[in-house]
Amino acid sequence: MIVCKSQAELEKMHHAGLVIWEVLNDLRAMVRPGVSTKELDEYAERRTAELKVRPAFKNYRGYPATLCTSINSEVVHGIPSKSRRLEEGDIISLDFGVEHAGYYGDAAVTVPVGEISPELKKLLQVTREALDMAIDKVRVGNRLSDISAAVQGWVEGKNGFSVVRDLCGHGIGTHIHEEPNVLNYGDPGRGPRLQEGMVFAVEPMVNMGGPEVRVLDDEWTTVTADGTKSAHFEHTIAVTSNGPWVLTRPREMQGPSW
Ligand code: MF3
Ligand code: CO
Repeated sequence: MIVCKSQAELEKMHHAGLVIWEVLNDLRAMVRPGVSTKELDEYAERRTAELKVRPAFKNYRGYPATLCTSINSEVVHGIPSKSRRLEEGDIISLDFGVEHAGYYGDAAVTVPVGEISPELKKLLQVTREALDMAIDKVRVGNRLSDISAAVQGWVEGKNGFSVVRDLCGHGIGTHIHEEPNVLNYGDPGRGPRLQEGMVFAVEPMVNMGGPEVRVLDDEWTTVTADGTKSAHFEHTIAVTSNGPWVLTRPREMQGPSW
């Protein structure tokens, strides 16, 4: 069952979402060669406390940090560490979720460290554009797999990168992960019809090479099987009668999602 949220519930999720947006933007500005992923995590943890919300990831199934920091061939769920310092030319995905008054938000952005190669710039752009196209499908009357097909069509059909199959987006609300799974691949026109009040965390994970991934011995860090680089962008989006409402950014913001 997909739980539909009331306007009052969506406002709570938007409160969580605005904290996430603010912190991710601060972190994006902190990204530069020499910074450790632990420093980024500590900043997220401090701001989470100051803004009086609760980190959604810390202790979730034993996850040990506030932030996920995934560098280069790491796809998602990289664990912050004081020995891991960013280097010029890296890309880093910052994934962050919080809970406010019982309601969750979840978002991610992949950021260049200094100057990156043209191929990597394209990887980031295509992944962000896939999210933009997916957001545009979050409309009353569309089918769930219209979101999935938009991502895959842009990433694989038009740009020759791969979407990860083993991980997906999700419903979100009073839990960080709710029904349904939001796949990043598939034919359009399948699955439930989207209704007002449904909320999805849509999160394309895009590899430069093949779609396969594996999990490292730390039991969290998910990396590409072929060692190619990977990008990840995510927003929490509500279905409304006025179209998609991106809860993890200011309401008046227009244009590209990140
Ligand atoms: N954005 C990720 C997700 O939707 C973050 C989960 S990390 C975890 O699954 F530690 F909380 F698992
Ligand atoms: Co998510």
